[in-house]
Amino acid sequence: MKILRVDASAKRERSNSRALSRYFLERLREQRDDIEVDYLDLTLDTPEHVDEAFAIATYTAAHERTAQMNARLAASDALCARLLAADALVFAMPMYNWSMPSVFKAFIDNIIRTNLTYRFAEDGSVVGQLSRQKVLFITSRGADLRPGSPYERMDALTPALKAAFGFLGVAAPTFVDAQPLQFADQEARTEALERARVELDAVAKQWGQRVSGRSSASASASVACTVIG
Ligand SMILES: Cc1cc2nc3c(=O)[nH]c(=O)nc-3n(C[C@H](O)[C@H](O)[C@H](O)COP(=O)(O)O)c2cc1C
Repeated sequence: MKILRVDASAKRERSNSRALSRYFLERLREQRDDIEVDYLDLTLDTPEHVDEAFAIATYTAAHERTAQMNARLAASDALCARLLAADALVFAMPMYNWSMPSVFKAFIDNIIRTNLTYRFAEDGSVVGQLSRQKVLFITSRGADLRPGSPYERMDALTPALKAAFGFLGVAAPTFVDAQPLQFADQEARTEALERARVELDAVAKQWGQRVSGRSSASASASVACTVIG
């Protein structure tokens, strides 16, 4: 099972989201001995922001692109290839200002590519090319945005991730949201991390099951229900 693991926190050793994604991979390795990890740290390998050259090249048909256009798209092509080669995607990130870290947004801008990660069917509808992949988002939040909290409506992160990856064919991503990890007392923070670890244990067990009889897509959907509520 080939996993693309992506971290996006500006923090390193002190990062909760990095620690949780590491924890998840450790639990998954206990379940399966065929785990191969392709690791991407977006704070070290930050994809370039969209500029004019990219914006023009990406919507120019492949057979009409100049060598310069191809060069501008090369890093984005490589990121798309890494996604498509993976069987599962593990994205870990903190919430920054109610949404995603800018490095992760730059990543998204580089991986939504016509005729690579999505195609058009004959009837004009969009066919996302990541429908095969299991997808786990691990997010860390300083505040508590769970249902019923005063901050519930401030969550611009979950819908943005669902929209971008839904467009690429990810129908039932799993979310494990660790919260509150900063704007709360120590006890609440400790409980939040423990809740996240328990949820990650369940996802690791589920991903650990070899697909037999039950489809991986339906397995993924059922954890999403447990985790999201
Ligand atoms: C620049 C910045 C912006 C933040 N914005 C928010 C926010 O809007 N809402 C929130 O709940 N927490 C916010 N936080 C807190 C982080 O999401 C929280 O501390 C998280 O656990 C950090 O994850 P990490 O340890 O992996 O870096 C922010 C933190 C930073 C550094």
